[in-house]
Amino acid sequence: MSNSVGKAFYLTTPIYYVNDAPHIGHAYTTVAGDVLTRWHRQRGEEVWFLTGTDEHGQKVMRTADLNKVSPQDWVDRLVESAWKPNWKALNIANDDFIRTTEPRHTERVQKFLQGLKDSGHIYAGKYEGPYCVDCEEFKLPGDLIEANGEKLCPIHSKPIELVNENNWFFKLSAFVEPLLKHYKDNPDACQPESARNEVLSFLEGGVSDLSISRSTFDWGIPVPWDTDQVVYVWFDALLNYATAVGLGDDPNSQGGRKFAETWPADVHLVGKDILRFHAVIWPAMLMAAGLSVPKKVFAHGWLLVGGEKMSKSKLTGIAPSDITDHFGVDAFRYYFLRAIPFGTDGSFSWEDMSARYTSELANDFGNLASRLTAMVEKYCAGVIPAVAKDRALQSALEATVSKADQAMCALDFQGGINAIMEFCKKVNGYVTEKEPWKLAKDSANQGQLEEVLYNTAESLRALAVLLNPVMPATCEILWESLGANKTLGSISQQKISDVVLWGQLPAGSIVIKSAVLFPRLDDSK
Ligand code: ME8
Ligand code: MG
Repeated sequence: MSNSVGKAFYLTTPIYYVNDAPHIGHAYTTVAGDVLTRWHRQRGEEVWFLTGTDEHGQKVMRTADLNKVSPQDWVDRLVESAWKPNWKALNIANDDFIRTTEPRHTERVQKFLQGLKDSGHIYAGKYEGPYCVDCEEFKLPGDLIEANGEKLCPIHSKPIELVNENNWFFKLSAFVEPLLKHYKDNPDACQPESARNEVLSFLEGGVSDLSISRSTFDWGIPVPWDTDQVVYVWFDALLNYATAVGLGDDPNSQGGRKFAETWPADVHLVGKDILRFHAVIWPAMLMAAGLSVPKKVFAHGWLLVGGEKMSKSKLTGIAPSDITDHFGVDAFRYYFLRAIPFGTDGSFSWEDMSARYTSELANDFGNLASRLTAMVEKYCAGVIPAVAKDRALQSALEATVSKADQAMCALDFQGGINAIMEFCKKVNGYVTEKEPWKLAKDSANQGQLEEVLYNTAESLRALAVLLNPVMPATCEILWESLGANKTLGSISQQKISDVVLWGQLPAGSIVIKSAVLFPRLDDSK
């Protein structure tokens, strides 16, 4: 999985529509991206992590109209007051944030489009057919569902609109064969397996050319050679992944160098609602321009409400703060990745989250840390005792790291987190079996007692590093309470591959009794 020298691990999230504030579905994708990029950084790789906002198109324009402000004012307000603060609150460490209304994006989109026109991939045509504004998607008659004699979008259960316009078309159909070959030759390029199968059968069914401009409204990027038309919002939006890293810039310029360092993207993380855009249209656009296609598109499942996709349009979105106010940010980051296999749909349940919070985070992890620091204070005057080793714990740790690393790199977050939490259980079992509080009753056992405490502290050192990508604020507190920041440096500098090296916490480190990592839930709230 490792990249050649000079190439960063480049991961993107979708750029979200700013017709409304973020809900936990958006947070699910972005947190997953944040955990994976933090993991890769701790593997010692160069990383570039991009997120942003999709600001053009009819959906955003109509929302602005309804709110009686200009689209530009609407998106500026929402990005600054809702989207950026939300990612900050969730501790998302993105390297860049792209907005599709920025000149760095619009200029590069126009240049790219002109290039495709000049090379004969674009022609004038007439589009007639159904369109879902909530999806911003031209639909095929077979895609629609019918209710009370009306044709509805199957995702939004809302009536579609009929479009009848003279537009510019992209010769998408010319790329069906190259795309089929690409996915057959590279099984990893579209994951999970269910998504790959969907894309293969979609391509095998044949694909028509794509209308890539609209003439009946003006909230978009003007088509450079026909300024009565704006670029179709998806054609504009997909390009963000490349415009943000300098698409089309002179190779010797800053943008050109960034492009060489990042392109092709390693992972485009998306929800399964937008799989076809990413696995069919986007790589075809790149192929047409002679650029390499992304290494992997991963489509995860949906968070459901009442069996349906949680969505802004249906007003079923739960705000991340509704959950973090009660459970805290790190429990939020942990819960969805731990509870739902990545790639499968899942429902949010307050009861399940409470149960896992209490048993896995507060009891298994939090209590282990507070018991250890309390015992080191009480029995060793707050100082880490001499280095010791427990063979069983050490080999369990070795197995844990290799399993977790493999799972995380394969985007099996649940498998990765489970492996780490199993190790946490094992350490709890070790403490329970050795009963240090009994050893402490007789000073003749002081050596044995210190061994148990050292092994437990050292296990917590490993747990802090392994869980840091998932729960960075909590792990930092634990790291400091082990005195490790003073002796081993900052937690984010710790390498995954070095976690197994036993005996890193130096004897003599000063332990600080930590704040409770996961306080008891106040169920009256
Ligand atoms: O589609 N469950 O933006 P969008 C899980 N602007 N994930 C969910 C979700 C749910 N219920 N709801 C949303 C767009 N998501 C385009 C993208 S990219 C070039 C342009 C997440 O605001 C998931 O990642 O509708 C989904 O694919 C994305 O938000 C859609 O966000
Ligand atoms: Mg959507």
